[in-house]
Amino acid sequence: MALATADSQGRPSVRFVLLKGIDQRGFIFFTDSRSRKGSELRANPRAALALYWQPNGRQVRVEGRIEEIEPCAADEYWSSRPRQSQLAASASLQSAPLRSRVLLLARVKKIASKLRGREVPRPVEWLGFRLRPDVIEFWTHREHRLHEREIYIRYGNHWRHRLLQP
Ligand SMILES: Cc1cc2nc3c(=O)[nH]c(=O)nc-3n(C[C@H](O)[C@H](O)[C@H](O)COP(=O)(O)O)c2cc1C
Repeated sequence: MALATADSQGRPSVRFVLLKGIDQRGFIFFTDSRSRKGSELRANPRAALALYWQPNGRQVRVEGRIEEIEPCAADEYWSSRPRQSQLAASASLQSAPLRSRVLLLARVKKIASKLRGREVPRPVEWLGFRLRPDVIEFWTHREHRLHEREIYIRYGNHWRHRLLQP
């Protein structure tokens, strides 16, 4: 999914992340909280996401507040990841400048040899986040640009449904 965040000045940024799960409360993704998105979310805990399925002409857009999920859920997903990915995530301070790729590969190698025969611990900054939706829009491709748009807006505990012009 494309995940948009904004800094404290309202300057937007967007990137793709894996939509790892959806539960009763919202949409879950995992990332390094020291990353650009992580620091933007600390300054401004609101985000938007968009998903697009080209073969069936569907788009879903979501807006809402971000919350951190329980560390045990991050542990669970972390432990399901391939060891090489765990090592790479441990060696990388996501979004910080990198002087050379060789340095990164050397860091991965160093961590790998230090942890040989042991599990790779989850970096405490590698966390799961949940976007709790306030707005969800479903867009469906229709012929001649007469697309269908349905929006759900949350008011407290209930959702209001409306159609939007395409
Ligand atoms: C298809 C795809 C999936 C990705 N999934 C993730 C992910 O789940 N978590 C993550 O932190 N970065 C993921 N990335 C990398 C991000 O797009 C991005 O480079 C990284 O999170 C740093 O973003 P930031 O500097 O805006 O914080 C993915 C990239 C692509 C293209």
